[in-house]
Amino acid sequence: MEKKVVLTGIKPTGMPHLGNYLGAIAPALKMAEDENIEARFFIADYHSLNTVRDADTLRSYIYEVSASWLAAGLNPDKTFIYKQSDVPETFELTTILMAFTAKGLMNRAHAYKAAVDANRAKGVSDDHQINMGLYTYPVLMAADILLFDTNIVPVGKDQVQHVEMAQDIAQVINHNYKKPLLVIPEARTNENVMTIPGLDGRKMSKSYNNHIPLFIPEKKLRKMINKIVTNSQGIEEPKDPETCNVFALYKLFASEEEQKALAERYRAGGMGWGEAKAALFEKINEVVSPMREKYDELMDDKSRIDRILADGADKARSAASKTIKRLRKAVGVELG
Ligand code: TRP
Repeated sequence: MEKKVVLTGIKPTGMPHLGNYLGAIAPALKMAEDENIEARFFIADYHSLNTVRDADTLRSYIYEVSASWLAAGLNPDKTFIYKQSDVPETFELTTILMAFTAKGLMNRAHAYKAAVDANRAKGVSDDHQINMGLYTYPVLMAADILLFDTNIVPVGKDQVQHVEMAQDIAQVINHNYKKPLLVIPEARTNENVMTIPGLDGRKMSKSYNNHIPLFIPEKKLRKMINKIVTNSQGIEEPKDPETCNVFALYKLFASEEEQKALAERYRAGGMGWGEAKAALFEKINEVVSPMREKYDELMDDKSRIDRILADGADKARSAASKTIKRLRKAVGVELG
């Protein structure tokens, strides 16, 4: 069976949180273990440049994200991990794609439209603070994907439209040159997406500021868990695990048996929120601490991350250069 190429990009926005780990990192790493899959995970640093305008901040985001994926178990011998900016073929392909991308297609991008809507709501001009990086974001993303003859793109629901745009652009090119020059990629969203509750019970998200960063020190983790919102029932009262944020998080980390045991403690009464939170802390810490140790090691000596990313870029470029050669020839800029 021909191996499938699975590729996804990670926008560096700092240390991931528990929700990112459970919802995206862990499932992607599990997928990467499949023998029939060639997985490529890259840091979409030039996508971040559209919004992150401080060099030290961007640099530290890149390290945090790289270290997180490595600490979570990404095996760089099997899976490519590289920085988008280290693969200049991406930008050559972007230029080619631009020539075939309808401006009207970009006008329909959700992220761009949302930015325009926000400007209208504020009563400023449509173009206020919208740069060409944001406007052409889907073209760069299409290049990331098409460069590697990608079959499957695991993404969140908000990114499906971008993958569809990559399909559209690839089809325009294939149609123009009357041959399958570019592989048509498919988005893969996680069907059983769990909603991971944050400290206040809403979906865990950096933008709600209710998130638990994945590798914060143990003491801080305990403190954060103590901040999870619960009702005001007293110690003696029996409690309902199914409506409790603490239990909802516990379920995501504990075995069936452990879940059952804690649910019984809830229902029996005589257990206060402090005790439930202590149980949750122990559980999360048990899962996270071996990864946290690796994370801290990597962040203490960043030269290892540098080496892994450089090696990933070499491998990525050797695959990418084949696609670019094929295209340069097909479009006619390659002479002879
Ligand atoms: N746009 C994606 C996000 O915001 C990141 C990304 C960039 C990406 N290039 C990609 C994802 C290519 C998948 C494939 O999350």
